[in-house]
Amino acid sequence: MERDFPRDFLAFLRLAGEIAQAQEQSLYLVGGAVRDLLLGRPNLDFDLVMEGDAPRLARQLAKASGEKVITHPRFGTAKFSRGELSIDLVTARSESYPSAGALPEVKPGIIRDDLARRDFSINAMAVNLDPPSFGQLFDPHEGRSDLKQKLIRILHPRSFIDDATRILRALRYEQRLGFKLEENTEKLLRQHKSMLNTISGDRIRHEVELILEEEKPERILHRAEELGVLQELHPSLKGNGWLAERFRHVHQLAILPSSPIYLSLLLYHLTEEELESVIARLNIVGGLARMLRQMVRLKADLPALAVADLSRSGVYRLLRQYTPEAITTCALACDLPAIRSRLDLYLTDLRYVKLSLDGEDLKEMGVAPGPRLGRMLKALLEAKMDSRVSTREEEEALVRHWIAGREI
Ligand code: CTP
Repeated sequence: MERDFPRDFLAFLRLAGEIAQAQEQSLYLVGGAVRDLLLGRPNLDFDLVMEGDAPRLARQLAKASGEKVITHPRFGTAKFSRGELSIDLVTARSESYPSAGALPEVKPGIIRDDLARRDFSINAMAVNLDPPSFGQLFDPHEGRSDLKQKLIRILHPRSFIDDATRILRALRYEQRLGFKLEENTEKLLRQHKSMLNTISGDRIRHEVELILEEEKPERILHRAEELGVLQELHPSLKGNGWLAERFRHVHQLAILPSSPIYLSLLLYHLTEEELESVIARLNIVGGLARMLRQMVRLKADLPALAVADLSRSGVYRLLRQYTPEAITTCALACDLPAIRSRLDLYLTDLRYVKLSLDGEDLKEMGVAPGPRLGRMLKALLEAKMDSRVSTREEEEALVRHWIAGREI
C-alpha cells in the first residue's frame, strides 16, 4: 500500500483506522480496490467496511481530516470524494436471499460475513486498517491464490442462483483481467444461466452497460455467446466476428459516447419485433429507445440510398428524419460501399449545409409568412446542396425568380 497509494491518501486511511480503533471497532479496505492493489492496476473507487456504525465514523473522520462527507444513516453508508477518488464507507453486513433474483435481506455483521456475501474470491478480500495490523490481508476465500492462478471463482454453489447478475459480472472480469472461469464456476454458470430471467430489466441493462464500457466489450460478448449467456438476453443476439470488427472500428474512430453505438450494433440485425422485445426486457427508455427504433426503420430505408443517380439533396431528403446516432450505426454496420458513402456524405457534409438567407429575409423580399415560405426555404436548401446556388446573391436571385414566376 505504501508504494501504490498517494501519501496523503494513505494518511487518510491511517487516520480512519485510528478513529475506528478509538471506537473499539475494526475497519477494512475491501473488494475491487484490494484486488486491483494486488494486481498493480489503478482503481479510484475505494470501499471501506466497518464492523460498527459507519456513518458515525465518517462524521468523525470528516471532522478530523477536514474532508467533506455525505452520510446516509438509514443505509449505514457514507461517501467521501477527494478529487478523482471516491471512498465509500459502509457498515459490515450479512445477507440472505429470500428468493432468486430478489434484492437480499441485509443485517449488520462482521467482516467475515461481509466477504462471504460477495461475488468472487478475487473480490472477497479485505485489508485491515486497524493501527496494530494496518495493511494485513484478510483472505478467507483464497482470493490471492486465485489472482495468481488467474481464476474467477464463486464462493458457494448457489451464488448464481442468489444473484444472476454475477453471470455477466464473471464474464466482465474474466475478459478484463485476462483470467479464466474456474472449472466448477463455469459448470455452474452454464447450468444456472437461465436464472438471468429472475433479474429485473433495469439491473440487466446496468450490467450490459458496464460490459459495453469495458476496454474490449466484443470479447465479453463473444464469450457470452460461447457460454449461451447472450442468448438468454435474446436468442437472436450474436457476439461474432462481424460485431468485433465493427466495435474495433468504433474504437479506432474514437466515437463518443461509444456505449450506445455498441448497443445498437449488437442489436442491428434484429427485426423490429425482436428489437421491441429487447427494449422491453432491458427496460430501455427515452432517447436510447428512440434511437434504436430509428435504426431499425433506417435499415429498411437503406436500399433507396443505393439508387445510382440519387442527388445530394435526395440523400438529404431520405436521411434528415433520422438522428445522427442512428445514421452512424447504419454507416458502421452497412457492408455496401455505395450506401455507406452516402451515409457518410450526410454525416460529414449535408447535415451541416446552411443557407445565407432565413425566413426574415424572405419576408423582407415579399414572401408572405405561411407554408409557402417554409417550402421555399426547403427548396432553397436543396438547391444549395445540389450546387445550384452558392452565394447569398444567388439565393436571392432564385427566390426572386420563384416570386416572379409564382412558383413553389
Ligand atoms: N459485489 C458483489 N456482488 C455484486 C456486486 C458487487 O459481491 N453483484 C461486491 C464485490 O466484492 C465487488 C464490490 O461489491 O468488488 C464492489 O462492486 P463494484 O463496484 O461493482 O465492483 P468492483 O470490484 O469495484 O469492480 P469494478 O472494478 O468493475 O468497479
